[in-house]
Amino acid sequence: FDAIEVIHAKRDGHALTREQIDWVVDAYTRDVVADEQMSALTMAIFLNGMERREIAEWTAAMIASGERMDFAGLTTPEGRPLATTDKHSTGGVGDKITLPLAPLVASYGVAVPQLSGRGLGHTGGTLDKLESIRGWRADLSNQEMMRQLSEVGAVICAAGAGLAPADKRLYALRDVTGTVEAIPLIASSIMSKKIAEGTGTLVLDVKCGSGAFMKNEEDARELARTMVDLGRDAGVNTTALLTDMSVPLGLTAGNALEVRESVEVLAGGGPADVVELTVELARAMLAGAGVTGVDPAENLRNGRAMDVWTRMIEAQGGDPRAQLPTAAHTEAVTAETDGVLTELDAMAVGLAAWRLGAGRERQGQPVQAGAGVELHARPGDRVAKGQTLMTLHTDTPERFERAKAALAGGWAVAEADEAAAAALRERS
Ligand code: URA
Repeated sequence: FDAIEVIHAKRDGHALTREQIDWVVDAYTRDVVADEQMSALTMAIFLNGMERREIAEWTAAMIASGERMDFAGLTTPEGRPLATTDKHSTGGVGDKITLPLAPLVASYGVAVPQLSGRGLGHTGGTLDKLESIRGWRADLSNQEMMRQLSEVGAVICAAGAGLAPADKRLYALRDVTGTVEAIPLIASSIMSKKIAEGTGTLVLDVKCGSGAFMKNEEDARELARTMVDLGRDAGVNTTALLTDMSVPLGLTAGNALEVRESVEVLAGGGPADVVELTVELARAMLAGAGVTGVDPAENLRNGRAMDVWTRMIEAQGGDPRAQLPTAAHTEAVTAETDGVLTELDAMAVGLAAWRLGAGRERQGQPVQAGAGVELHARPGDRVAKGQTLMTLHTDTPERFERAKAALAGGWAVAEADEAAAAALRERS
Protein backbone atom coordinates (compact mmCIF):
# COMPACT_ATOMS: atom_id res chain seq x y z
CA PHE A 1 0.00 0.00 0.00
CA ASP A 2 0.87 3.62 -0.06
CA ALA A 3 -0.76 6.48 1.81
CA ILE A 4 -2.09 8.18 -1.32
CA GLU A 5 -4.00 5.06 -2.39
CA VAL A 6 -5.68 4.86 1.04
CA ILE A 7 -6.50 8.60 1.02
CA HIS A 8 -8.00 8.29 -2.51
CA ALA A 9 -10.18 5.36 -1.43
CA LYS A 10 -11.70 7.25 1.52
CA ARG A 11 -11.89 10.55 -0.37
CA ASP A 12 -13.92 8.83 -3.09
CA GLY A 13 -16.35 7.37 -0.56
CA HIS A 14 -15.18 3.74 -0.45
CA ALA A 15 -14.91 1.62 2.68
CA LEU A 16 -11.29 0.83 3.60
CA THR A 17 -10.26 -2.81 3.75
CA ARG A 18 -8.88 -4.33 6.92
CA GLU A 19 -5.46 -4.57 5.30
CA GLN A 20 -5.49 -0.87 4.36
CA ILE A 21 -6.51 0.11 7.91
CA ASP A 22 -3.88 -2.08 9.59
CA TRP A 23 -1.21 -0.73 7.27
CA VAL A 24 -2.01 2.97 7.54
CA VAL A 25 -2.38 3.03 11.36
CA ASP A 26 0.84 1.08 11.82
CA ALA A 27 2.72 3.14 9.22
CA TYR A 28 1.58 6.40 10.85
CA THR A 29 2.73 5.19 14.28
CA ARG A 30 6.14 4.33 12.74
CA ASP A 31 6.39 7.73 10.99
CA VAL A 32 6.19 6.16 7.51
CA VAL A 33 2.93 8.03 6.83
CA ALA A 34 3.40 11.77 7.37
CA ASP A 35 1.19 14.09 9.44
CA GLU A 36 -0.10 15.88 6.33
CA GLN A 37 -1.16 12.56 4.79
CA MET A 38 -2.90 11.44 7.96
CA SER A 39 -4.64 14.78 8.27
CA ALA A 40 -5.98 14.37 4.70
CA LEU A 41 -7.19 10.89 5.59
CA THR A 42 -8.84 11.98 8.85
CA MET A 43 -10.59 14.81 6.99
CA ALA A 44 -11.84 12.27 4.42
CA ILE A 45 -13.09 10.09 7.31
CA PHE A 46 -14.70 13.17 8.86
CA LEU A 47 -16.53 13.94 5.62
CA ASN A 48 -17.38 10.43 4.37
CA GLY A 49 -17.69 8.45 7.61
CA MET A 50 -16.89 4.82 8.27
CA GLU A 51 -18.93 1.62 8.43
CA ARG A 52 -19.12 -0.22 11.75
CA ARG A 53 -16.68 -2.83 10.45
CA GLU A 54 -14.15 -0.15 9.54
CA ILE A 55 -14.50 1.53 12.97
CA ALA A 56 -13.94 -1.81 14.74
CA GLU A 57 -10.89 -2.55 12.60
CA TRP A 58 -9.50 0.99 13.04
CA THR A 59 -9.92 0.62 16.83
CA ALA A 60 -8.21 -2.79 16.79
CA ALA A 61 -5.31 -1.33 14.78
CA MET A 62 -4.92 1.51 17.32
CA ILE A 63 -4.88 -1.01 20.19
CA ALA A 64 -2.29 -3.12 18.32
CA SER A 65 -0.05 -0.04 17.94
CA GLY A 66 0.95 -0.44 21.60
CA GLU A 67 0.81 -2.58 24.73
CA ARG A 68 -2.19 -3.92 26.64
CA MET A 69 -2.53 -3.76 30.38
CA ASP A 70 -4.13 -6.49 32.47
CA PHE A 71 -5.78 -6.01 35.84
CA ALA A 72 -7.12 -9.57 36.02
CA GLY A 73 -4.89 -10.61 38.94
CA LEU A 74 -5.29 -7.38 40.94
CA THR A 75 -5.72 -7.88 44.72
CA THR A 76 -5.67 -5.76 47.89
CA PRO A 77 -2.46 -5.98 50.02
CA GLU A 78 -4.37 -8.63 52.06
CA GLY A 79 -4.98 -10.71 48.92
CA ARG A 80 -8.67 -9.93 48.28
CA PRO A 81 -9.40 -9.90 44.51
CA LEU A 82 -10.30 -6.46 43.16
CA ALA A 83 -12.74 -5.81 40.32
CA THR A 84 -11.96 -2.79 38.13
CA THR A 85 -14.32 -0.19 36.75
CA ASP A 86 -13.72 3.00 34.80
CA LYS A 87 -15.68 5.84 33.24
CA HIS A 88 -14.94 8.10 30.31
CA SER A 89 -16.66 11.31 29.34
CA THR A 90 -16.69 12.44 25.72
CA GLY A 91 -15.73 15.93 26.97
CA GLY A 92 -17.56 18.95 28.28
CA VAL A 93 -17.40 22.31 30.05
CA GLY A 94 -17.03 22.26 33.84
CA ASP A 95 -16.94 18.46 33.66
CA LYS A 96 -14.91 17.73 36.79
CA ILE A 97 -16.88 14.58 37.61
CA THR A 98 -13.88 12.21 37.45
CA LEU A 99 -12.31 13.98 40.45
CA PRO A 100 -14.97 13.10 43.05
CA LEU A 101 -16.15 9.98 41.19
CA ALA A 102 -12.95 7.88 41.18
CA PRO A 103 -12.42 8.08 44.98
CA LEU A 104 -16.15 7.67 45.62
CA VAL A 105 -16.35 4.39 43.68
CA ALA A 106 -13.08 3.13 45.21
CA SER A 107 -14.52 3.79 48.68
CA TYR A 108 -16.90 0.86 47.99
CA GLY A 109 -14.01 -1.55 47.40
CA VAL A 110 -13.92 -1.52 43.59
CA ALA A 111 -10.66 -0.41 41.93
CA VAL A 112 -10.76 2.57 39.54
CA PRO A 113 -7.87 2.76 37.00
CA GLN A 114 -8.77 6.13 35.51
CA LEU A 115 -6.58 7.01 32.54
CA SER A 116 -7.35 10.62 31.73
CA GLY A 117 -6.39 13.25 29.21
CA ARG A 118 -5.55 16.90 28.81
CA GLY A 119 -7.82 19.58 27.40
CA LEU A 120 -9.09 19.11 23.85
CA GLY A 121 -10.29 22.32 22.21
CA HIS A 122 -12.72 24.17 24.48
CA THR A 123 -13.13 21.17 26.81
CA GLY A 124 -11.10 20.90 30.01
CA GLY A 125 -8.71 18.03 30.76
CA THR A 126 -8.73 16.11 34.03
CA LEU A 127 -4.92 15.97 34.19
CA ASP A 128 -4.62 19.75 33.70
CA LYS A 129 -7.05 20.24 36.60
CA LEU A 130 -5.24 17.90 39.00
CA GLU A 131 -1.87 19.45 38.17
CA SER A 132 -3.04 22.61 39.96
CA ILE A 133 -2.54 20.64 43.21
CA ARG A 134 0.99 21.29 44.51
CA GLY A 135 3.32 18.35 43.78
CA TRP A 136 0.75 16.14 42.03
CA ARG A 137 2.17 13.92 39.28
CA ALA A 138 0.19 12.66 36.23
CA ASP A 139 2.84 10.27 34.88
CA LEU A 140 3.09 6.94 36.65
CA SER A 141 4.80 3.74 35.54
CA ASN A 142 2.59 0.69 35.09
CA GLN A 143 4.04 -0.73 38.34
CA GLU A 144 3.24 2.45 40.28
CA MET A 145 -0.28 2.41 38.89
CA MET A 146 -0.80 -1.24 39.93
CA ARG A 147 0.57 -0.62 43.43
CA GLN A 148 -1.66 2.41 43.95
CA LEU A 149 -4.72 0.52 42.71
CA SER A 150 -4.01 -2.25 45.17
CA GLU A 151 -3.24 0.01 48.15
CA VAL A 152 -5.53 3.02 47.60
CA GLY A 153 -8.08 1.68 45.12
CA ALA A 154 -8.14 4.72 42.83
CA VAL A 155 -5.66 6.24 40.43
CA ILE A 156 -6.13 9.08 37.95
CA CYS A 157 -3.12 9.35 35.64
CA ALA A 158 -1.95 9.84 32.06
CA ALA A 159 -1.96 6.85 29.73
CA GLY A 160 1.62 5.53 29.55
CA ALA A 161 3.61 6.14 26.38
CA GLY A 162 3.15 2.49 25.37
CA LEU A 163 -0.66 2.50 25.44
CA ALA A 164 -2.34 3.18 22.06
CA PRO A 165 0.51 5.40 20.76
CA ALA A 166 -1.38 5.79 17.46
CA ASP A 167 -4.11 7.64 19.39
CA LYS A 168 -1.60 9.96 21.06
CA ARG A 169 -0.41 11.17 17.65
CA LEU A 170 -3.88 11.27 16.12
CA TYR A 171 -5.44 13.11 19.08
CA ALA A 172 -2.89 15.91 18.78
CA LEU A 173 -3.28 16.01 14.98
CA ARG A 174 -7.10 16.17 15.12
CA ASP A 175 -6.95 18.98 17.68
CA VAL A 176 -5.29 21.27 15.13
CA THR A 177 -6.90 20.08 11.86
CA GLY A 178 -10.62 20.52 12.53
CA THR A 179 -11.24 16.78 12.69
CA VAL A 180 -12.25 16.24 16.32
CA GLU A 181 -16.03 15.97 15.97
CA ALA A 182 -16.31 12.74 13.95
CA ILE A 183 -18.02 9.67 15.43
CA PRO A 184 -15.56 7.06 13.99
CA LEU A 185 -12.58 9.10 15.24
CA ILE A 186 -13.96 9.85 18.72
CA ALA A 187 -15.24 6.30 19.24
CA SER A 188 -11.96 4.66 18.18
CA SER A 189 -9.88 7.17 20.16
CA ILE A 190 -11.72 6.56 23.42
CA MET A 191 -12.31 2.83 23.05
CA SER A 192 -8.78 1.94 21.90
CA LYS A 193 -7.42 3.41 25.17
CA LYS A 194 -10.09 1.84 27.34
CA ILE A 195 -9.81 -1.64 25.78
CA ALA A 196 -5.99 -1.53 25.89
CA GLU A 197 -6.16 -0.42 29.52
CA GLY A 198 -7.98 -3.69 30.34
CA THR A 199 -10.73 -2.44 32.67
CA GLY A 200 -13.44 -4.98 33.51
CA THR A 201 -16.32 -2.51 33.41
CA LEU A 202 -16.66 0.80 31.58
CA VAL A 203 -19.34 3.47 31.93
CA LEU A 204 -19.41 6.08 29.17
CA ASP A 205 -20.75 9.56 29.84
CA VAL A 206 -21.74 10.71 26.37
CA LYS A 207 -22.28 14.45 26.35
CA CYS A 208 -24.88 16.12 24.19
CA GLY A 209 -25.46 19.85 23.60
CA SER A 210 -23.71 23.07 22.64
CA GLY A 211 -20.66 22.45 24.87
CA ALA A 212 -20.20 18.84 23.67
CA PHE A 213 -18.65 17.49 20.48
CA MET A 214 -22.06 15.98 19.65
CA LYS A 215 -24.57 18.83 19.40
CA ASN A 216 -27.78 16.81 18.98
CA GLU A 217 -29.27 13.74 20.58
CA GLU A 218 -29.30 11.62 17.43
CA ASP A 219 -25.52 11.99 16.96
CA ALA A 220 -24.85 11.46 20.67
CA ARG A 221 -26.92 8.25 20.59
CA GLU A 222 -25.05 7.02 17.53
CA LEU A 223 -21.70 7.73 19.25
CA ALA A 224 -22.86 5.94 22.40
CA ARG A 225 -24.11 2.91 20.46
CA THR A 226 -20.87 2.68 18.48
CA MET A 227 -18.70 2.79 21.62
CA VAL A 228 -20.86 0.31 23.57
CA ASP A 229 -20.66 -2.17 20.65
CA LEU A 230 -16.87 -1.76 20.44
CA GLY A 231 -16.49 -2.36 24.19
CA ARG A 232 -18.80 -5.36 24.35
CA ASP A 233 -17.17 -6.98 21.30
CA ALA A 234 -13.83 -6.66 23.13
CA GLY A 235 -15.21 -8.30 26.30
CA VAL A 236 -15.50 -5.07 28.34
CA ASN A 237 -18.81 -4.73 30.22
CA THR A 238 -19.74 -1.35 28.69
CA THR A 239 -22.75 0.89 29.31
CA ALA A 240 -23.45 4.51 28.36
CA LEU A 241 -25.39 7.42 29.81
CA LEU A 242 -26.44 10.33 27.62
CA THR A 243 -26.13 13.56 29.63
CA ASP A 244 -26.78 17.21 28.93
CA MET A 245 -23.97 19.59 28.05
CA SER A 246 -25.93 22.64 26.90
CA VAL A 247 -25.19 24.39 30.24
CA PRO A 248 -21.83 24.07 32.09
CA LEU A 249 -21.68 21.48 34.87
CA GLY A 250 -21.62 23.09 38.30
CA LEU A 251 -20.44 26.64 38.94
CA THR A 252 -16.83 26.53 37.73
CA ALA A 253 -14.88 25.98 34.48
CA GLY A 254 -11.11 26.13 34.90
CA ASN A 255 -8.41 24.03 36.52
CA ALA A 256 -7.94 24.94 40.21
CA LEU A 257 -11.50 26.33 40.29
CA GLU A 258 -12.83 22.88 39.37
CA VAL A 259 -10.60 21.12 41.92
CA ARG A 260 -12.04 23.40 44.61
CA GLU A 261 -15.59 22.52 43.59
CA SER A 262 -14.77 18.79 43.47
CA VAL A 263 -13.42 18.94 47.02
CA GLU A 264 -16.69 20.62 48.09
CA VAL A 265 -18.58 17.65 46.60
CA LEU A 266 -16.28 15.20 48.41
CA ALA A 267 -17.00 17.13 51.64
CA GLY A 268 -20.72 16.48 51.19
CA GLY A 269 -21.60 19.84 49.59
CA GLY A 270 -21.17 21.27 46.10
CA PRO A 271 -23.64 22.11 43.31
CA ALA A 272 -26.63 19.78 42.99
CA ASP A 273 -26.04 18.91 39.30
CA VAL A 274 -22.42 17.84 39.97
CA VAL A 275 -23.48 15.72 42.97
CA GLU A 276 -26.35 14.15 41.02
CA LEU A 277 -24.21 13.13 38.03
CA THR A 278 -21.38 11.87 40.27
CA VAL A 279 -23.82 9.67 42.21
CA GLU A 280 -25.56 8.45 39.04
CA LEU A 281 -22.28 7.45 37.37
CA ALA A 282 -21.00 5.86 40.60
CA ARG A 283 -24.17 3.75 40.76
CA ALA A 284 -23.66 2.56 37.16
CA MET A 285 -19.94 1.80 37.71
CA LEU A 286 -20.61 -0.11 40.93
CA ALA A 287 -23.50 -2.06 39.37
CA GLY A 288 -21.23 -3.06 36.48
CA ALA A 289 -18.73 -4.40 39.02
CA GLY A 290 -21.47 -6.32 40.87
CA VAL A 291 -21.96 -3.91 43.80
CA THR A 292 -25.68 -3.13 44.15
CA GLY A 293 -27.97 -2.02 46.96
CA VAL A 294 -25.76 0.89 48.09
CA ASP A 295 -26.52 4.61 47.94
CA PRO A 296 -23.29 6.23 46.64
CA ALA A 297 -24.37 9.59 48.13
CA GLU A 298 -23.70 8.05 51.55
CA ASN A 299 -19.89 7.98 51.22
CA LEU A 300 -19.89 11.62 50.08
CA ARG A 301 -21.70 12.54 53.31
CA ASN A 302 -19.71 10.37 55.75
CA GLY A 303 -16.20 11.32 54.56
CA ARG A 304 -15.14 7.90 53.18
CA ALA A 305 -14.80 9.20 49.61
CA MET A 306 -12.78 12.17 50.93
CA ASP A 307 -10.41 9.75 52.71
CA VAL A 308 -9.70 7.94 49.44
CA TRP A 309 -9.22 11.31 47.66
CA THR A 310 -6.62 12.38 50.24
CA ARG A 311 -4.71 9.10 49.92
CA MET A 312 -4.98 9.14 46.11
CA ILE A 313 -3.55 12.68 45.84
CA GLU A 314 -0.77 11.93 48.36
CA ALA A 315 0.19 8.68 46.59
CA GLN A 316 0.89 10.77 43.47
CA GLY A 317 3.05 13.31 45.32
CA GLY A 318 0.36 15.94 45.81
CA ASP A 319 -0.50 17.87 48.95
CA PRO A 320 -4.30 17.73 49.32
CA ARG A 321 -4.18 20.34 52.09
CA ALA A 322 -2.13 22.92 50.18
CA GLN A 323 -3.79 26.19 49.19
CA LEU A 324 -4.95 25.97 45.56
CA PRO A 325 -3.50 28.59 43.19
CA THR A 326 -5.66 31.61 42.40
CA ALA A 327 -5.40 33.91 39.38
CA ALA A 328 -3.74 37.30 39.76
CA HIS A 329 -6.67 39.21 38.19
CA THR A 330 -10.46 38.93 38.24
CA GLU A 331 -13.22 40.79 36.48
CA ALA A 332 -16.98 40.64 37.04
CA VAL A 333 -19.67 40.19 34.39
CA THR A 334 -22.82 41.84 35.71
CA ALA A 335 -26.54 41.87 34.89
CA GLU A 336 -27.64 44.98 33.01
CA THR A 337 -31.30 44.65 34.07
CA ASP A 338 -33.46 42.92 36.67
CA GLY A 339 -34.87 39.60 35.46
CA VAL A 340 -34.21 35.88 35.17
CA LEU A 341 -31.05 34.32 33.73
CA THR A 342 -32.69 32.64 30.74
CA GLU A 343 -29.59 31.43 28.92
CA LEU A 344 -26.09 30.26 29.83
CA ASP A 345 -24.42 28.52 26.93
CA ALA A 346 -21.84 25.82 27.73
CA MET A 347 -19.79 26.47 24.58
CA ALA A 348 -19.55 30.22 25.32
CA VAL A 349 -18.36 29.55 28.88
CA GLY A 350 -15.92 26.86 27.67
CA LEU A 351 -14.43 29.20 25.08
CA ALA A 352 -14.15 32.01 27.65
CA ALA A 353 -12.31 29.74 30.12
CA TRP A 354 -10.02 28.57 27.33
CA ARG A 355 -9.21 32.15 26.31
CA LEU A 356 -8.59 33.18 29.92
CA GLY A 357 -5.74 30.63 29.93
CA ALA A 358 -7.36 27.43 31.28
CA GLY A 359 -6.68 25.67 27.94
CA ARG A 360 -4.02 25.70 25.23
CA GLU A 361 -3.71 27.56 21.96
CA ARG A 362 -0.77 25.50 20.74
CA GLN A 363 0.44 21.96 21.41
CA GLY A 364 2.40 21.54 24.63
CA GLN A 365 1.69 25.04 26.00
CA PRO A 366 1.36 25.25 29.81
CA VAL A 367 -2.12 26.09 31.14
CA GLN A 368 -2.85 28.63 33.90
CA ALA A 369 -3.88 26.85 37.10
CA GLY A 370 -6.01 29.73 38.39
CA ALA A 371 -7.71 30.78 35.13
CA GLY A 372 -11.35 30.18 34.32
CA VAL A 373 -14.95 31.22 34.81
CA GLU A 374 -16.82 31.14 38.09
CA LEU A 375 -20.62 31.26 37.79
CA HIS A 376 -22.78 32.95 40.42
CA ALA A 377 -26.14 32.21 38.81
CA ARG A 378 -27.67 29.32 36.86
CA PRO A 379 -30.51 29.41 34.33
CA GLY A 380 -33.81 30.11 36.08
CA ASP A 381 -32.23 32.19 38.86
CA ARG A 382 -33.73 35.63 39.48
CA VAL A 383 -31.03 38.34 39.28
CA ALA A 384 -30.93 42.06 40.00
CA LYS A 385 -29.43 44.86 37.89
CA GLY A 386 -25.71 45.19 38.71
CA GLN A 387 -25.50 41.71 40.27
CA THR A 388 -22.36 39.70 39.43
CA LEU A 389 -23.30 36.78 37.18
CA MET A 390 -19.80 35.48 36.51
CA THR A 391 -16.26 36.19 37.71
CA LEU A 392 -13.51 35.82 35.13
CA HIS A 393 -10.09 34.73 36.44
CA THR A 394 -6.72 35.04 34.68
CA ASP A 395 -3.05 35.83 35.30
CA THR A 396 -2.92 37.81 32.02
CA PRO A 397 -5.53 40.62 32.10
CA GLU A 398 -5.22 41.37 28.37
CA ARG A 399 -7.24 38.16 27.94
CA PHE A 400 -10.40 39.62 29.51
CA GLU A 401 -11.57 41.25 26.28
CA ARG A 402 -11.32 38.04 24.24
CA ALA A 403 -13.09 36.09 26.98
CA LYS A 404 -15.92 38.64 27.12
CA ALA A 405 -16.22 38.46 23.32
CA ALA A 406 -16.59 34.66 23.62
CA LEU A 407 -19.35 35.14 26.20
CA ALA A 408 -21.27 37.73 24.16
CA GLY A 409 -24.61 36.26 23.14
CA GLY A 410 -23.98 33.21 25.33
CA TRP A 411 -26.04 34.44 28.26
CA ALA A 412 -29.21 36.48 28.63
CA VAL A 413 -31.25 38.10 31.38
CA ALA A 414 -34.93 38.59 30.49
CA GLU A 415 -38.41 38.93 31.93
CA ALA A 416 -39.83 35.54 32.91
CA ASP A 417 -42.65 34.47 35.22
CA GLU A 418 -42.11 31.99 38.04
CA ALA A 419 -43.31 28.98 36.03
CA ALA A 420 -40.87 29.73 33.20
CA ALA A 421 -38.03 30.27 35.70
CA ALA A 422 -38.81 26.98 37.43
CA ALA A 423 -38.80 25.17 34.07
CA LEU A 424 -35.35 26.64 33.29
CA ARG A 425 -34.02 25.57 36.71
CA GLU A 426 -35.40 22.08 36.17
CA ARG A 427 -33.72 21.78 32.74
CA SER A 428 -30.31 22.95 33.94
N1 URA B 1 -11.82 11.98 24.31
C1 URA B 1 -10.90 11.20 23.70
O1 URA B 1 -10.14 10.50 24.35
N2 URA B 1 -10.84 11.22 22.36
C2 URA B 1 -11.66 11.96 21.60
O2 URA B 1 -11.57 11.91 20.41
C3 URA B 1 -12.63 12.78 22.25
C4 URA B 1 -12.69 12.76 23.62
